[in-house]
Amino acid sequence: MAGENIRESFLRELAPVKTIVELEQLRVRYLGRKGVLTSELKRLGALPPDERRAAGALLNEAKVFIESELASCRQELKELELREKFASEAIDVTLPGKYIPPGKTHPITRVMKEATDIFTAMGFSVEEGPEVELDYYNFEALNIPKEHPARDMQDTFYVSPDIVLRTHTSPVQVRVMQRKKPPVRFIAPGKVYRCDTDVSHTPMFHQIEGFMVAEDVSFSHLKAVLESFLHRIFSPDVPVRFRPSYFPFTEPSAEVDIGCIFCKGTGCRTCKGTGWIEILGAGMVHPNVLRMVGYDERRYSGFAFGIGMERVAMLKYSIDDIRLFYENDLRFLGQF
Ligand code: PHE
Repeated sequence: MAGENIRESFLRELAPVKTIVELEQLRVRYLGRKGVLTSELKRLGALPPDERRAAGALLNEAKVFIESELASCRQELKELELREKFASEAIDVTLPGKYIPPGKTHPITRVMKEATDIFTAMGFSVEEGPEVELDYYNFEALNIPKEHPARDMQDTFYVSPDIVLRTHTSPVQVRVMQRKKPPVRFIAPGKVYRCDTDVSHTPMFHQIEGFMVAEDVSFSHLKAVLESFLHRIFSPDVPVRFRPSYFPFTEPSAEVDIGCIFCKGTGCRTCKGTGWIEILGAGMVHPNVLRMVGYDERRYSGFAFGIGMERVAMLKYSIDDIRLFYENDLRFLGQF
């Protein structure tokens, strides 16, 4: 094939090329080791010398031509492919975004934080203890020996005969006293577990333990701390009442009620017609509890209390079913 014809056939084959891959195949067909042009060049040697020059020049021109056509076509195809890529990946920045609702703080987390802030402002530090607890700390060291009827007050989840899910935050009292010498003053917020479920009980709930032991701590201190806490977390005019009660680890013991928020004391379903709602247990630390950790019970005295925080949240936000806190219904949680 002469130079002219090679160009023409090359152009004919170039016309339908649409991709870089096809272009590369075409290049190989013409310029590759066994390509059309290459074999023509090889055949030059067989021509008589006078023809060889002219034919060689023509073939070389054709080669230059084909190379430059290939280069410019490659460039065009590249640009085309890039434009297509851009078009397919284009983002319309003017489209409205997807709405991602902001998270809200869980109502229990909120009251826990608020209560913690009130107590730390009064000078209480914050302590923690394990939720999986030794029977010793949950009961024994709190003056509740095995077979003591008070163990029935709490429906305990047993992990093993010696290990329980703590039924209250009171075991933290003992752990802190073992670590520190008096005076001590702290709160211990956290989760506790009891085998119980209905409108006012969930198997897991939250308490804040309060504890203070020093010289000359009296029941008046307990009253002052609790009344001022309740007035701050609810409202300064909420009625507060101390009722005699029993806990093995305090003596004397009291339960503390506040005036029913729902009926303002006239009596309703939530307060079972009494006008009062119990929200915490408290008392003066039992001498046996002090003695067991090696505190001198003649020199030191103190108070302890345990507040049910779900109750606090229910009253604060007028929620009449405790289970709502743990159903994870966003329509409920989104209100806080
Ligand atoms: N631990 C008691 C309970 O969970 C509450 C309490 C704490 C009572 C501290 C007195 C003193 O029922």
